[in-house]
Amino acid sequence: MEKKRGKKVSIIGAGNVGATVAFILAMNGNCHEIWLRDRNPDISKGKALDMSQAANAARSHTIVKVAEEASDLKDSDIVVITAGSPRKPGMSREDLLMINAEITKEVVLDVKKYAPDSIIVMVSNPLDVMTYVALKVSGFPKERVVGMAGILDSARMAHFIYEKIGYGAGQIRASVMGGHGDSMVPLAKYSTVAGVPLGDILSKEEIDEIVERTRHGGAEIVGYLKTGSAYYAPAKATAIMVEAILKDTKQIYPCAVYLDGHYGYKDVVSGVPVALGANGVEKLFEMHLDDEEKMLFDKSVKSVKRMIDVLKEQKFFDNLNS
Ligand code: NAI
Ligand code: 2OP
Repeated sequence: MEKKRGKKVSIIGAGNVGATVAFILAMNGNCHEIWLRDRNPDISKGKALDMSQAANAARSHTIVKVAEEASDLKDSDIVVITAGSPRKPGMSREDLLMINAEITKEVVLDVKKYAPDSIIVMVSNPLDVMTYVALKVSGFPKERVVGMAGILDSARMAHFIYEKIGYGAGQIRASVMGGHGDSMVPLAKYSTVAGVPLGDILSKEEIDEIVERTRHGGAEIVGYLKTGSAYYAPAKATAIMVEAILKDTKQIYPCAVYLDGHYGYKDVVSGVPVALGANGVEKLFEMHLDDEEKMLFDKSVKSVKRMIDVLKEQKFFDNLNS
């Protein structure tokens, strides 16, 4: 049965990304309540108050509240998870694996208990593995657990294309699939500037440079910020997914989802185009990939599988249902 979602969005992790997602949602007024939950409740309280006042100034009806207790997650339509440790300079996404897997397990068990009908939008890194952890720990159907990365990576590539050509800002459509990591798969073939194929505008060398820069787009920002990672574009990308679900738009975005035979892979999460609506992931699209794209996608999926295997070796998924 089609579920109407529009009332309550909870965000676990009220740090840079989580708070910015909340702010965008509060300004856009597409949900009634946003609940912030953080292991530091005072941070949530201060930000919730500040954002509720901003929403009032914006004449938005959205109220931002604090989930001090896990039970405050009750009746959430969507739960965004950004709890975790951000990547520091020199630290790979993989370094964060065990720390964030334990945090994800802890918060997803709360979601399972108090918001069993919600849709989980995962953001914490390493993204594809944390989406897999959220799926396995929650036991939710695969349609209700979806990770954010592809919209961000595509936006980064689009911006780098703009920087290279100096024209067409806002009209550039770039396409990235695969995992959110250095082995992501930017698809130059499906990238266009106002409908003009990228290959008709730039040389292969120029496109290769853009692809390489996109792969390291997160690290480039970490290099400048030094004490944390990007959050404006990540938050906007997350808010786009939340709003597509809330408004049941059925629009298509690259998102990290569970592959169950899709593209020839099973029991792993990777980024592919999906339609988002009130039921979460409503359709998964299988694109035709050429041999090189298949090879890159394979490499990307295998790097995620390797991290899942590390967790399995640590018996991370044992006794989940006890
Ligand atoms: P941040 O450090 O600003 O915020 C993280 C928040 O999580 C902190 O406020 C912390 O107190 C909270 N937290 C930690 N453990 C918690 C727990 N058990 N329960 C509740 N709250 C808890 O970090 P930022 O920049 O907001 O990034 C958050 C996560 O998102 C990181 O893992 C980062 O790597 C990831 N990220 C992923 C992106 C993607 O494309 N998927 C893009 C950007 C960030
Ligand atoms: C990013 O790509 C850290 O995954 C985060 O900015």
